[in-house]
Amino acid sequence: MVSSSSSSPGSPAASGNDVAIARFLADGFDLRAQLAGYLQLSLAELEQRLPRSTADLAALHPGAFDPDQAGQFYEDTVGTGHLLELAAWHLGSADYIADTLQLQQQFARGQVLDFGGGIGSHALAAAGLEAVEAVWYVDLNPHNRAFVAARAAQLGLAGRIHCCRDLADPALPQRFDTIVCLDVLEHLADPAAQLELFAERMGSGATALLNWYFFKGHNGEYPFHFDEPALVERFFRTLQSRFLEVFHPWLITTRAYRLMD
Ligand SMILES: C[S@@+](CC[C@H](N)C(=O)[O-])C[C@H]1O[C@@H](n2cnc3c(N)ncnc32)[C@H](O)[C@@H]1O
Repeated sequence: MVSSSSSSPGSPAASGNDVAIARFLADGFDLRAQLAGYLQLSLAELEQRLPRSTADLAALHPGAFDPDQAGQFYEDTVGTGHLLELAAWHLGSADYIADTLQLQQQFARGQVLDFGGGIGSHALAAAGLEAVEAVWYVDLNPHNRAFVAARAAQLGLAGRIHCCRDLADPALPQRFDTIVCLDVLEHLADPAAQLELFAERMGSGATALLNWYFFKGHNGEYPFHFDEPALVERFFRTLQSRFLEVFHPWLITTRAYRLMD
């Protein structure tokens, strides 16, 4: 388990995974070596691929996106593209990702769902927290699931992280104490419906940590993000009718919510 009891400046309830956060900042939980191993690349080849990973992922996108094909895109078309793109992001914006891990440390407890967990940084960090019983990592992409399962095994966390394709998996708990869904909602054809699904699966006193980016990028670098105004308005209507925001001190776009009474 990657944890400690030391505190860091500004931490509202310093305990648990400060060592894990320091380790994430140092090497992304050994991300380069693990990804090179999974993709069977040398470290030098990996370094060449990382800077062009955002453009490579965008190039896989067919242009006009049929919303009904979004799931197939992430499950099949993307292949290992998201692993590289997310690795480049988590390594290149480590301070920002570390702040989201601090936020997670503040709220995560019990049964934790990491929906659309990508390369697993949040799932791995959550699995090291004393207040967390188990982490349920859900991601449509089979490479992402295999990579995160291998990472968990290498870090000695295999017994605490369960990897599933979707929320219909009967192995999943019916209710979660914490839901983490970061940088995923803009990839879904109906993010408002996803919020309703989360609300159904939140236990008493549960917290949801959510962010979103309904924008294709200043240079069109995220062609797969949904941004239709009607979709975004439905999302905010659902968010603001079903969830109450809980204040947190981290200066990041991710928000914490509990269910509205
Ligand atoms: C931009 S990544 C975010 C990954 C991670 N949460 C992070 O913050 O780095 C979006 C992830 O959502 C996954 N995804 C997309 N649609 C999904 C769906 N319908 N169900 C589950 N996962 C999905 C993708 O495979 C990808 O790993």
